[in-house]
This record gives sequence, structure tokens and C-alpha cells, in this order.
Amino acid sequence: MTTGCPAHADGAACPVSDRARAFDPFTGAYQLDPAAALAWARAEEPVFFNPETGYWVVSRYADVKAVFRDPLLFSPCNVLEKITPFPEEAMAVLASYGYAMNRTLVNEDEPAHTERRRLLMAHFLPANLEAHRDRVRALTREKVDAFVAKGRADLVEEMLWEIPLTVALHFLGVPESDMARLREFSMAHTVNTWGRPSREDQIALAHEVGRFWQFAGEVLDRMRAEPEGKGWMHEAIRQNALHPDIVTDSYLHSMMMAIIVAAHETTAHAAANAIKLLLTDGAGWRAICEDAALIPNAVEECLRYAGSVVAWRRQLTAPATVGGTDLPAGAKLLIVMASANHDERQFQNADSFDIYRDNATDHLTFGYGAHQCMGKNLARLELRIILEELSRRLPHLRLAEQDFTYLPNTSFRGPDHLWVEWDVAANPAEGAERTRFEIGAPRRKDIARSVVVTAVQTEAEGVISLQLADPQGRPLPRWTAGAHVDLELDGFDRSYSLCGDPDAPGYTVSILREEAGRGGSCRFHKVTPGTVLRLRGPRNHFPLDETAPEHLLIAGGIGITPLLAMADRLKRIGAPYHLHYLGGAEARMAHLARLNRDHAGRVTAHPRDRVPHANLAALVVAAAPGTRISACGPARMLEALQTLTTTRPDLVLAIEHFSAGDDTDPADNRPFEVELADSGFTLPVPADRTLLQVLRAAGIDIASDCEEGLCGSCEVAVLDGTVDHRDKVLSSAEKAAGTRMMCCRSRGEGRLKLAL
Ligand code: HEM
Ligand code: FES
Repeated sequence: MTTGCPAHADGAACPVSDRARAFDPFTGAYQLDPAAALAWARAEEPVFFNPETGYWVVSRYADVKAVFRDPLLFSPCNVLEKITPFPEEAMAVLASYGYAMNRTLVNEDEPAHTERRRLLMAHFLPANLEAHRDRVRALTREKVDAFVAKGRADLVEEMLWEIPLTVALHFLGVPESDMARLREFSMAHTVNTWGRPSREDQIALAHEVGRFWQFAGEVLDRMRAEPEGKGWMHEAIRQNALHPDIVTDSYLHSMMMAIIVAAHETTAHAAANAIKLLLTDGAGWRAICEDAALIPNAVEECLRYAGSVVAWRRQLTAPATVGGTDLPAGAKLLIVMASANHDERQFQNADSFDIYRDNATDHLTFGYGAHQCMGKNLARLELRIILEELSRRLPHLRLAEQDFTYLPNTSFRGPDHLWVEWDVAANPAEGAERTRFEIGAPRRKDIARSVVVTAVQTEAEGVISLQLADPQGRPLPRWTAGAHVDLELDGFDRSYSLCGDPDAPGYTVSILREEAGRGGSCRFHKVTPGTVLRLRGPRNHFPLDETAPEHLLIAGGIGITPLLAMADRLKRIGAPYHLHYLGGAEARMAHLARLNRDHAGRVTAHPRDRVPHANLAALVVAAAPGTRISACGPARMLEALQTLTTTRPDLVLAIEHFSAGDDTDPADNRPFEVELADSGFTLPVPADRTLLQVLRAAGIDIASDCEEGLCGSCEVAVLDGTVDHRDKVLSSAEKAAGTRMMCCRSRGEGRLKLAL
């Protein structure tokens, strides 16, 4: 049964399904698990009208991000609007306190918003957050010291609300007094803005919110009397004096109230959610106890899986289509980041919690674009330090039996209490902090898991294969043909393609002993079963386009490994392919016997000690139009193929490199400018800095791993301008298209416009 949507004058034009009508964001399933409560919407009705709230609910990742991306069409003006309007008596109570909450950064329209954001950004930049590190550490230690010998604690009550509040007040430059009062004020503000209080509760709430407003005004007056004061609010007060038209008086008062909540509740809830999740999962908790370098990515995965800001709001300034649904001007949107963060279209196995997930930072819990959370890097620092202290000092922590409760509201989510227990007699001796976290998004280099070598096998002269498995016997992540992993051992770090059975729970890599190399391969050749290695990935920057009409696979030497996996895959799906395998001596060519057995008739081996050189030119000339050539091997062979295919634009050449072959002189670097379309900033990139460095310093989240143009982690989308490509990831056709670039090495000419 469907009935008309009250948002439209002609009602019947917009049907509301039963599930859309039944959706209640103030109670029940949504309060316990908003992502699960909207699984049906992500699958079947990604944008729906909910009569209970009068909002259109947006549930898929791409749609939520698209809404965040366009603050002109999707105005943030309703972000702090009461989702449950107050009755007149409650409004009268608010008025009696002179309450006049107005626009602050978060609900301000353009162009005023970006002007203010630019003026008020400096304190939030990674370089300026360093000053808070020691304070966060000391505060966290002090809190843990107070309960470490007790064996049981409510972490919310005994540490988690107070640390972010103290840090926030310090960051703002607000004197630390009346902390408990401020906590109550914040909760009142949350229910007032995002909750569904009863009529009676609304009166009491109005008094509390009115008192919060007065308190914020008094604090502001005291701060104005200290013109030299330190902290972000003092900076805002000074900007108010310098630019009273941009940072206005009313703005300061509203901001004072909003920022306390923005900085404190969000982070306290995020910490509680993260600890609860890690302890429930067990494996994630054990992993961060063993290796603190995993904490930054674990924090991102916790923010993705169970973030503290689960939904946000926008209002349409003109008619628009969102997720295929036509919406009228004025439509109000509830964009549910918790649901977007569980969207399978963006996150593989989205409902499983995986602290090794390498795109966890894509979560939308901090929003995205022009209004993206300015405090994200301060919040990250706090969350990392809290997890590091707890996992080091109380690795044997476990969740106590309890029923979790949440403050009912649409947007802020974290348990009211988090009871944990531990055996005091087993407390480890106090050690020093294990790692000094960098400020900003996590680096992929740190996302490494332990794997154990289960078998070592000789494949050919100088080539061995290692079988790798999870030490606890769990299946390793799935991979596709062309994927590689990075292995670390004794400070050596090497990339190897996967070449075994993709359905097996473990991995196989083949390693050539390179006598002239830097010693890494020799070290890997000495490993024996039982050796534990660190592994990053798998990642695939050499994917197989299974739709190509014909495949020509060309391998040189140990470059056979990704192509073996491709041949296996092509055989399995019944696609036409032929593999040419070039080598020096036949005895040194790995996997030949297996190739001849499994791919008989589709493999031609060219061992130079037996047969004449392979004629690459003839292979290219003979290739049928549309053929995809996938090649991996020595640089000379790949360069030759690149040259040969320039006269055959009908062929697609995909190649895999394992070394950057750095041939650019840094002295040739020229400065350029980047315009960031989604964030509204323009940044200069000086000749002596990479684009990646400049973006990071401006607080933009960019993943990176190799930082030498090889791995593809730092890819950004280019909207306009000429790119000077210096990476080995993109094919020549992709480089020519100019729509993507690797920002760790590639540069721009003049001005580039990026989708960031
Ligand atoms: C904005 C989440 C911590 C300051 C936002 C927005 C979200 C958010 C969802 C709106 C984004 C958008 O519209 O695109 C969070 C979460 C936090 C956190 C999940 C903790 C885990 C903090 C902290 C501070 C802070 C610690 C300050 C010290 C701000 C400010 C804005 C904002 C100033 C407004 C930015 C603008 O509109 O230009 N935050 N926040 N946040 N947040 Fe946070
Ligand atoms: Fe590896 Fe840029 S970080 S290509």
C-alpha cells in the first residue's frame, strides 16, 4: 500500500511505501544500528520520503557524497534546525533567555561560509595541531591512572566525555570550568536539535538550552576582555574585530555554543563506539595491542563502521534528482552517513569490520567537501592516543555484560555507558608510548598484517614460491588477477604479484633472487616455514579487463607471476588469450611446467638459450583489432611494447612496473596551482614540494603508500588543466585522457582543477 507524499501539493504524485512510512529515526532499530536499519533502502529505495520527519532520507554512498559535494544546490541552512519544532510556550521560554541561535560555520551558505572558513582555518591545519599532542597524551594517562587498578570502569563516565571536552576547551581557549554543566548543556543541545522530546520535556529543555546560550555569551564576554588570549575562539574574536562584516557578533555567540558540542560530543561518542566495536570484534583489538601502527587505520574503520555522527541535513534550493528520485525545491534531506558507510558499492564486504581495509578513510562520518569537519585531525589525534593508551596498558580489557542505551536522536550516536572489566593481577608493567602518530589521514604503509610462511618451494633456478597464511588460520582477503602485495622483512620492503589459486585462503608469491639488487630478494630467499612477515594489500593496479575481445599476455622473466594469474582467470571465464613467455635460460623460467600443463596450446615460451628472440613487433602487428595486451617484465621490454603500439591505437596496452625508474630532475620542477572544486580552496604548489605534501598540509585526506608513483594509492580525479604525468600506474591512454593523476609525483602545468 502506498499513500501520497505530503511534501508535494498534489500528494498522489509521490508515493510513500510502507517501509518509508514506518521508518522512525528516533527509536528502535535506527537507534541501535542505523546502517542495518536502512539496509532495505540501500538495496531497493535509496531515496525515500519519511512522513514521520518530513524529510527525504538518502541512504547510498554516491548520493550522500553528491549532496555534500554541492552546497549551493543542497544548502546546509537546516543543519541545526530543530527536527521537532518547539510549541509556543517552549519558544517563549527560549526567548526569555534572549536565545538567538543564528548561522555558524556548519549551517552557513556560500559565499559567506567559505570566506569565514578561510579566515578561521589556520588553527586546524595539521602543523598547528602538533601543540595539542602532549596535552591529549597527559590527560589520557591521568584518566587511565585513576582506574587502572580497579578492574572495572564505565569508560564513558570515567574518561571518554571529559578528555574531548577538556581538549576542545583548550583548543578554543575557553577556561576549563563547569565541565559537568557543559556536558549537560551539550546533551540538551543534541536532543533540542536532533531529538523528539515529549511536550513536557520540551519546556525543561528550552530552559536548559536558554541557560547554555547565556553561558556561551558570558564566556564570550570574558574572552573579549583578554585580547591576547590563545585559542581558536580568541582568533575568531580578533577576526571579528578585523572583519566585522565576515565574522559577525551574532555569529560569534552562535559559534561559541555550537563548537563546544561539535568538538566534544562527536569525539566522545566516536571513542566509545570504537572501543565497544574493537572489543566486540576481538581480532581488531588484539591486532592493535600487538602493533600500534595499525591504530590510525583502525580509527578510520571504526568511524566508518560505527561513526558518531550518523546523519546530517541539507535543503534543496532548486528542484533536483537525487539517486534517480526527482525532488522539489525546498525538500529537506536527511543524509545518512552511517548507511552510506555500509554501502557495498563503495566498500567491499561493507558489513564486516576490517581494520586493514585500505579505503576506510573514504567514510563520510566527517562529511565531505566545503563543510567537511574542520576538527577531524584533532579528533583523530585524540582517538588514536586514547586507543594507544588503553591497548598498551589494558590489553586484557573486555566488555562487561550490559545493555547499551543511546540518547534518542537522528544524528549523534554513542552509548550512554561503556562498562569494561579486566583482571588487575594481569596488568602489564607500564611501558612508554609505542608510537608517535602523525597528524592527518593514515598512511597505507602502516596498514600491514602479519602472515606466516607455510611452505617454500623451488620453482626454477633462482626462483622460489612462498605460501603465506594468516597466523590464526583465517582466510586472507580475496584478490583478483593482476593484484600484488607488499612484503616486509627485516626492514626490506618489496612488491610481489599474487599467482596462486584466488579461491585458496592463503597467498602464493614467486620471488626471483636478484644478486645485483638491494639485498631484499636474497633476504626473502632465506625464509623458512614458520617465518612471520608483514604484508600490505592486496591491491590491483594491473586489473584484467575481462570484456576485451582478445587478450595477448606478454611476460618477461619473473614478470610471469601476474600474467599466470591472468591466464588462469581467462581460461576459467572462457575468454580468448595467448601468453608469450620470454626468458633467458629455460632453467630459470618459473612455472613453465605448470603453464604447459594448464594452458597447453595457449602458451609460447621463448627461452633465449633454446629459441631465437621473441619478435615483439610481429606479435603487435598480428594482434587483432581491440586486443588488450597485458605485459610485465624488464623495463626494456615494456618500453619496446610502448613504442610498437603507438602506431596501433586500436590496441590497449596495460603494463605493470615494479620500479619507478626515476628519470625526472627535481630542478626541472615548476610551481603550479591547484583549485579544489569540492572544498573551495586554491593552493599554490611550489617547485620544491609535491602536490601530495601540499594537500596534506592543507588538511585534505589523501591516501599514500609508495610515494614514488608506483602503487596508485594517491590517485585524485582531475577536472581541468594539463597534468605532467610522472607515475608508472596509468597507461598511456589514461595519461592522455588527463582525468586522473598520482599526486605523489605528477605535477600540473599552470593551474589544475581537482575533484577534492
Ligand atoms: C563539521 C563530524 C570532531 C569542528 C562537521 C560535520 C560533521 C562533523 C559531520 C559537518 C560536515 C559537512 O557538512 O560536510 C565530526 C565528527 C567528529 C568531529 C564525527 C569526531 C569524531 C570535531 C572537532 C572539532 C570539530 C574535535 C573542533 C575542534 C567542526 C567544525 C565544523 C564541523 C568547525 C564546521 C565546518 C564547516 O561547516 O565549514 N563535523 N566532527 N569537529 N566540525 Fe566536526
Ligand atoms: Fe603510490 Fe602515489 S603513493 S603512487
